[in-house]
Amino acid sequence: YSTALAEYFDGLIDADSRIEPRDAMPDAYRQTLIRQIAQHAHSEIIGMQPEGSWIGRAPSLRRKAILMAKVQDEAGHGLYLYSAAETLGVDRSELLDKLHAGKQKYSSIFNYPTLTWADVGAIGWLVDGAAIMNQVPLCRCSYGPYARAMIRVCKEESFHQRQGFEILWTLSKGTEEQRAMLQDAADRWWWPALMMFGPPDTGEAATGGHTAQSMAWGIKRFSNDDLRQKFVDMTVPQAIKLGITLPDPDLRWDEERGHWDFGPIDWDEFWRVLKGDGPCNAQRISTRVAAHEEGAWVREAAVAYAGKLAARGEG
Ligand code: ACO
Repeated sequence: YSTALAEYFDGLIDADSRIEPRDAMPDAYRQTLIRQIAQHAHSEIIGMQPEGSWIGRAPSLRRKAILMAKVQDEAGHGLYLYSAAETLGVDRSELLDKLHAGKQKYSSIFNYPTLTWADVGAIGWLVDGAAIMNQVPLCRCSYGPYARAMIRVCKEESFHQRQGFEILWTLSKGTEEQRAMLQDAADRWWWPALMMFGPPDTGEAATGGHTAQSMAWGIKRFSNDDLRQKFVDMTVPQAIKLGITLPDPDLRWDEERGHWDFGPIDWDEFWRVLKGDGPCNAQRISTRVAAHEEGAWVREAAVAYAGKLAARGEG
């Protein structure tokens, strides 16, 4: 990696151009992208589990069809993202091995259980809502394949967010029991959704983290706290529309800042979940590993078929 190549890379970043797979890039840039895209892909695949468990229990055929389509979309996002990661010179089987061995992360949010049907709505509304807030800026990420993948992913996420809100809207017009179920789901998902944006930029709980470097490289376009604030500002009025409260006594409109103030986040809980000690970590990984092992014959058949096509000169 010569000085001339470094100048070329810096020039592309300064001009806000896209870096493409064949461009020379610093190893640290490549490794940061592999880390982030792999974590993102793993989140999509693990994220199928909490909602997948409700497909057989959806309250109507219509709800079941919508939920199946949604969970299938998440699988598609995962595969799309593994492909984007592979343009950086890694193999998806290597990334999956790391996920299964606990050497690569997936989003903290998917370690929480889905106890009632309202949780399916809350995931769409809050979790996919947070995902969109985080991913729309990634459509402008400096790495071309990741940025392009995000365009389609965001369109689908936006449908997911609306279907979640619509489930909750229906519950909000339902019986007292249904409204209680909605409130309980919002109470349990609110704080974990705020944690999705990652550790704070400043203050006691700040870790230094990757943000400054990732912003300088045009991978991240906003800091974790900025995106979290945008999410709170977008979501609080929606909670008011649903007629529910959010579990934060410090939540109030700050006229001066023009933003909603919110209370302190329990970062100890976040780090505990990341270390594997969340309510569902063990279950998520064991289900994933079992699915991977049961799918071995499919991968073997696909490789054999590709081999046959290649031998016939059609591959
Ligand atoms: N869950 C798990 N780990 C997290 C989370 C989270 N919610 N937030 C931050 N972390 C980890 C980071 O991976 C990093 O750990 P590492 O150094 O071992 O990789 C550490 O906490 C410090 O965080 P940051 O310095 O802020 O890390 P980064 O710059 O990567 O920012 C972020 C984190 C915002 C999640 C970023 O990686 C990102 O935008 N990723 C793409 C989006 C994504 O993965 N979404 C998944 C959930 S949405 C969905 O799938 C529906």
